[in-house]
Amino acid sequence: MTSAQLGFPVPSITNEVAIQGHIGSIIDELMSSLPNPRNLSAAQQRGIIARYSSVLEGNFIYWMTAAYLAVRSEESRSIIVDNLLEEVRDCHPGMLRRFATAAHALPTDADALAVSEELSQVRLFLGRLSAARIVLMMAFFEGFIQRFMAYLADLAGRQGSAEREYTDVHGVCDVAHSQGLFRALAAEMALDESRPGTDLFEGVDLLRTLLQRIVETPAATSARVASGLTQ
Ligand SMILES: [Fe+2]
Repeated sequence: MTSAQLGFPVPSITNEVAIQGHIGSIIDELMSSLPNPRNLSAAQQRGIIARYSSVLEGNFIYWMTAAYLAVRSEESRSIIVDNLLEEVRDCHPGMLRRFATAAHALPTDADALAVSEELSQVRLFLGRLSAARIVLMMAFFEGFIQRFMAYLADLAGRQGSAEREYTDVHGVCDVAHSQGLFRALAAEMALDESRPGTDLFEGVDLLRTLLQRIVETPAATSARVASGLTQ
């Protein structure tokens, strides 16, 4: 479903303040929809960590690289390179691997398959190299991850893990980081030659669907399949 179909007031793509506000409201809605960890079984807690790890360990740098390949302004490239340098230099995928391992939540083939379709949709979207849409998707993710880390750390603690490097590093409210991507968005929108009315939030909507699938519990999946819903 798109932001518009879900009833969100989609702002004009020329209003950057409204765009940031809209992203904030999407993150708020996503966070409030998370299942209470206390109500999850150990297997459901493990599943969320495993699906998150399955998606993020091998894809975050891929997604940010797609943003780098798509953008056209030097300011955007500089902002994205700084982000990629931090990811590679500090080996963030390794941090996530240690986090999942300590929580006994290394992804299995079933975990990877559970999110495969939604992940493919994000990858196909990235392949179109639509700069402003990709940068907005990444700005959305940067905002989401800061809020989501405390939840992920809570799940890991319930799995008996005290490993916190990944969640501590990514849970810091890095205002400069988030604002950098919104500055890149403004720079790319100024160069965007898309027709008025095209959906700036397409990548955000696809990534939100993927994140919703990550946190979906098996019980919720069963109910969705039984009702014939695919989104
Ligand atoms: Fe990272």
